Amino acid sequence: MEKTKIFGFAGSLRKNSYNKALLRAAAELLPENTELEIFDLEGISLFNQDLALQPPTRVQEFKSKIKTADALVIATPEYNYSMPGVLKNAIDWASRPYDDNPFNNKPLAIIGASIGPIATARAQYHLRQSCVFLNMHLLNKPEVMVGYVQEKVDNSGKLTDEKTKKIIKIMLVNLVAWTKQLKQP
Ligand code: FNR
Repeated sequence: MEKTKIFGFAGSLRKNSYNKALLRAAAELLPENTELEIFDLEGISLFNQDLALQPPTRVQEFKSKIKTADALVIATPEYNYSMPGVLKNAIDWASRPYDDNPFNNKPLAIIGASIGPIATARAQYHLRQSCVFLNMHLLNKPEVMVGYVQEKVDNSGKLTDEKTKKIIKIMLVNLVAWTKQLKQP
């Protein structure tokens, strides 16, 4: 059976990012025959439409990894009730030119962690809006919204909360099933 290749990135450049920690935890909770490659958005410059046809190397690398993936996982922080600029900026780069959209038809799970009680819900729904426009196929359940994340990750950046691990595991199983379902003729 062919491996399901998942490509993941977090909307944070922070070294000790909780959202990066969620992705690292996901990489340890994968179902059989599945791999998760994590990409750091560090080095992606600000979008300039003049360069849309010849994007910087880092953007080309990002785009080609999206293209070859079977499914995506985006871990978004919440900044001022929305997704961070670094994440929107990376998505904008990858989405252009219009007729070369690597997100087209990709299955996607959105997850997120915040230090507050609303657990990135507002950011996730803003991100969903962009993903719908880009014709991604979003996994609806389970929603992985991790509030008070500072109590759930240890000093080494490892997710320790068993309930959160369980929900991430279910998300991955569902994402793989969703990916296979979408591939059926
Ligand atoms: C935040 N944070 C935040 N948290 C939240 O739950 N809702 C919000 O609207 C905001 N707004 C916000 C704006 C800005 C500019 C910053 C820097 C932070 C706090 C946020 O949850 C916290 O910094 C997380 O740790 C960010 O995620 P990473 O970087 O740890 O992945």
